[in-house]
Amino acid sequence: MLRVGQEEIKAIGEVLKSGKMFRYHPGGQCDRFEKRYAKFLGVKHVCMTASGTNALTAALAGLGIGPGDEVVVPSFTYMATAIAVVAVGAIPVIIDVDESTLMDPNALDDAVGPRTRAVIPVHMWGLPCDMRRILKVARKHQLLVLEDACQGVGGAYEGRKLGTLGHAGAFSFNYFKNMTCGEGGAVVTSGSPVFEKARCMIDCCSFYWKGRKATFTPFVSNGARASEIEGAMMNVQLDRVPGLLRATRAQKKRILRETARTGLQASPCHSLDHECGTHVLYLLPTEKQAQDFATQVGCGIAGRTGRHVYTEWDPIFALQGAHHEAMNPFRFPENRGCRRKYTRDMCARSLDILNRTVMIGTHPDRTREEVTTRIQKIQEAASRVLGT
Ligand SMILES: Cc1ncc(COP(=O)(O)O)c(C=O)c1O
Repeated sequence: MLRVGQEEIKAIGEVLKSGKMFRYHPGGQCDRFEKRYAKFLGVKHVCMTASGTNALTAALAGLGIGPGDEVVVPSFTYMATAIAVVAVGAIPVIIDVDESTLMDPNALDDAVGPRTRAVIPVHMWGLPCDMRRILKVARKHQLLVLEDACQGVGGAYEGRKLGTLGHAGAFSFNYFKNMTCGEGGAVVTSGSPVFEKARCMIDCCSFYWKGRKATFTPFVSNGARASEIEGAMMNVQLDRVPGLLRATRAQKKRILRETARTGLQASPCHSLDHECGTHVLYLLPTEKQAQDFATQVGCGIAGRTGRHVYTEWDPIFALQGAHHEAMNPFRFPENRGCRRKYTRDMCARSLDILNRTVMIGTHPDRTREEVTTRIQKIQEAASRVLGT
């Protein structure tokens, strides 16, 4: 959550007073947000969901991913990225990140096998993946690209908004994200058939309210519809996000500039002028130095963020792909040809990088003086830890 204020309270209050909390009605808040967000992103279609996890699942279904397919995911992401793949009946293939803590395009190229149909680059901490290289590898192998932009709301890569560079994008609007309505998300795409299927995954009855093409047959799905309360809050949040991210981006650039001569190695950024700027990352020479630095500055270590590191994805390691064994994709005959072996040391290179990467959060509400104090802390810690 970057900022929530009186405007959100007013917008939600108006929905409550109107009594119109169900999304399908003329002039509704969800419809308005979807149109505005599509324009903001530069895509044809947006559909709000109940969560980012659901946005990922709906987008994969929209892309036609299912049993018999492998989908490549990075070793560093919230476990929902891998779990969404299994939720549509497919099998995740977990690959290394590089020094940026994001998907390594070379690892992607190496990982593609005969069953690989799609890849999910994840823009962790609002940091854009190396999309130029990832898209090149994807084109070479004819892979579908779903961007997990759950942590990248409002950010862009070389001027193009995150979530719009591949065939579809998934966003989360949960409490921790750059725009929030408590819990929520969105699927975005410019592919109309992809959208129609994704919307059916989000709300099996959407065709009843929105109409459907004669060629489309609705299918069984779970409910993950957004409410007008969420729509109202998101309309306010969308007005806020550009200004907030301008502030975080400027703050990050200042921190990087003023710590450039400390000997600290900033983690590579693939689009510093357009990213979210919500985190500053440094790669320390050793794990011990990263721990000492983090203690002194009071910041986090990427490899110690629990559920974000693949070693913590228990349902995947247990091959527990569904609530009922007959529905478990890890047991499906269609998936016999897919790679279904996961070991905790399979991405040792990622663990080494993540355990040496420290993360310092920025915030638009920090004063200039507070940022100065933070920079001094970084400089002092660097000097002690690196001996510079
Ligand atoms: C990278 C990433 N993917 C997916 C999700 C899932 O989003 P949600 O928590 O809204 O289901 C998150 C949420 O934290 C995330 O950070």
